[in-house]
Amino acid sequence: MIIDANTNLYCLIGHPISKSLSPEIHNYSFKKNGINAKYIALDVSTEDLEDAVKGIKALGIRGCNVTIPHKIDIIKYLDEIDEEAELLGAVNTVKNENGKLIGYNTDGRGFVQVLKDKNIEIKNKNIAVLGAGGAARAISIILAKEGINQITIFNRTIEKAKIIIDEIKEKFPDVTGMYSSLESNKYDLSSVDILINCTSIGMYPNIDEMPVDPSIFPRQTVICDIVYKPLKTKLLEMSEKNGNIAIGGLDMLIYQGILSEEIWLQKNIDKDLVIEWIKEKI
Ligand code: ATR
Repeated sequence: MIIDANTNLYCLIGHPISKSLSPEIHNYSFKKNGINAKYIALDVSTEDLEDAVKGIKALGIRGCNVTIPHKIDIIKYLDEIDEEAELLGAVNTVKNENGKLIGYNTDGRGFVQVLKDKNIEIKNKNIAVLGAGGAARAISIILAKEGINQITIFNRTIEKAKIIIDEIKEKFPDVTGMYSSLESNKYDLSSVDILINCTSIGMYPNIDEMPVDPSIFPRQTVICDIVYKPLKTKLLEMSEKNGNIAIGGLDMLIYQGILSEEIWLQKNIDKDLVIEWIKEKI
């Protein structure tokens, strides 16, 4: 599509941004869905964040994604934030509505939507999350909001798992929350319905590593990995061999991005086209 006077501009702001797949995902999606828009990645330092946000307004940039290290700091420069961004205390998507900047967060919602589209029930389920970084926190909190029964967070640094569990217990008193060290054998994982690896264990180039031995899970446990390079981690490969449903990180990444587009454009966007195309590129 030709760039003309009616082309809308979207961007990513973060630091560093050079490895981001967002420009490719959104520009492909805009093209395939016939949307006259372009998406660029802008490297913005913490000192320049306020000016960058003013720039979005002044230039009429229609929306942006926000990544590390600005997801929390940007909130103070926005006019409004929606309920899930408020719950997470972080924003990864901004919409410019005629000069009013509204913050959203699709980080946890993207994962939940992948499960829902695969008809995997979340309500009243027992969840195990490996890792306690930003992704683990967003996914755990949104799952708690979705009405899970129980969640255990396993992390190398146990204090970080405790912080997320304490937050969940405070905000969602009906959810049973526990935490443990990643190496602990204390918990019986045989009753876990959904396991989600949110650590970087198994990511390229360490493709032979696994955060947990998947043979301990019964066949009905759904095994998810947020790692998308390789597309199928060893954890997923072994789980599939054991007969478990195994879900990789690429779908979640695309869903997060496409959910941002749906917020910006107020219409449904075809995700499958983008997933198929990006698989070829990774
Ligand atoms: P993200 O934003 O993707 O969640 P992150 O905040 O850097 O990334 O979190 C990475 C997670 O992977 C953390 O939980 C980290 O454990 P620590 O909190 O103890 O640092 C975990 N992680 C990364 N490499 C690991 C390894 N080799 N062994 C165990 N855990 C690891």
